[in-house]
Amino acid sequence: MATTVNAVALDESPIPEHVAATGKQTVDPYNVSGEVGEDGVMKAIDYSKLVDEFGTKRIDKALLERFEKVTGKKPHRFLRRGIVFSHRDFELILDRYERGEPFFLYTGRGPSSDSVHVGHTIPFEFTKWLQDTFDLVIMLTDDEKYLFSEKRTVEEVQGYCSSNAKDIIAIGFDPAKTFIFSDFDYVGGAFYRNIVRLSKHITLNQARAIFGFNDSSNIGKIHFGSIQGATSWASSFPHIFGTDEKKSNAIPALIPCAIDQDPYFRMTRDVSARLHFAKPSLIHAKFLDALQGPGTKMSASIDESAIFMKDTPNQIKNKINKYAFSGGKVSVEEHREKGGDTTVDVSFQYLRFFLEDDAELERIRLEYESGKLLTGELKAICIQELQKYVAAFQERRAQVSDETVDLFMERRALRWVGNPQAPRV
Ligand code: TYM
Ligand code: TRP
Repeated sequence: MATTVNAVALDESPIPEHVAATGKQTVDPYNVSGEVGEDGVMKAIDYSKLVDEFGTKRIDKALLERFEKVTGKKPHRFLRRGIVFSHRDFELILDRYERGEPFFLYTGRGPSSDSVHVGHTIPFEFTKWLQDTFDLVIMLTDDEKYLFSEKRTVEEVQGYCSSNAKDIIAIGFDPAKTFIFSDFDYVGGAFYRNIVRLSKHITLNQARAIFGFNDSSNIGKIHFGSIQGATSWASSFPHIFGTDEKKSNAIPALIPCAIDQDPYFRMTRDVSARLHFAKPSLIHAKFLDALQGPGTKMSASIDESAIFMKDTPNQIKNKINKYAFSGGKVSVEEHREKGGDTTVDVSFQYLRFFLEDDAELERIRLEYESGKLLTGELKAICIQELQKYVAAFQERRAQVSDETVDLFMERRALRWVGNPQAPRV
């Protein structure tokens, strides 16, 4: 079997303009790219540097041991493999859990296309796994995906909402514990009061420094952070946490997300402290690379960069074979002799995210690095795993009706530590 040459030439996968200009690593909610080296090649994201720059903490062995001890759960493969790798105040959440005190999970999605991709499922899979122990709220930021795109109309993003909500529900969330809402519909009342409280405490200078806005940024973008941020406060949800704001504002959120979302919550944590509201805790995941390779993030708006959860088995096979960046050598002879590089190989990286069996993953790594396993063979294993993952998802997705979406999106009491007798659905 022939090895695949690293076929993605730079002109097929141009370095985004903002990175080409600075050459620097950029990670914020709107841009994710690695540093461009002197050879003009983009490097993988340096997550260690991000932890230092953002001022977050690494998830270390001691924290994982404590997690296992407190919850009685074996850490998820994302935790075992350092994919969920960083946090803010996660230990405070574990303290509360130990004492039986409430907190809630909050995560979200900006519906930018009619289907989520495999990368989006990472924070959602992880959140679902946490929900088996904790409680939850999910936000759909349709307004964000309108404000931050030149082309999309309000109707278009609203249209994506219901199909994205079905995708999220298909991950397996418990309807008795989950409220999904769209900003377009939910803003008003208690939520809007919190949005305004947050926005009053952020200056234009801060928004520029945090998000890189400039004089040409529309004012909706500048304001949007207060919407994503205000969801971290329990008093935004009186139908769940009650109308006594003093009580609900003492209940913190735990926010699982990929690390690009951290800037919103750094800002929210500052304002929370000033308002004497509980600061949200965070737990951060790394990105699933685009098919084109390390230093990029799979993106729903670039079709060839992503495997979508609606893709057919054949589409998955063709995309991996055609686009997945390979860490293999140019010829079979050289590959047999020197072995492949699993640290840049996209198929191997995807297996790290999706293959559950630790021993099997290690066997594949050793065989590829020694040259025993060829790129075509590695790709075949990756294709098979992704096809399995996507097919299982599609089976669950087919069961989710419009009525199910309505149920998840209805304003209603949820079952949580403060309301254990709310009905199971
Ligand atoms: P969105 O829709 O861009 O992404 C949804 C979630 O998926 C994460 N993500 C990825 N994770 C791994 N690999 C990737 N390639 C990848 N691409 C995206 C994102 O970090 C996010 O967790 N503004 C948000 C919506 C939002 C939100 C939140 C997200 C509102 N409130 C609270 C997390 C937590 C957005 O547009 O995400
Ligand atoms: N980073 C890859 C390498 O180490 C090359 C690469 C893959 C790349 N995809 C890219 C470079 C996208 C820039 C943009 O060889």
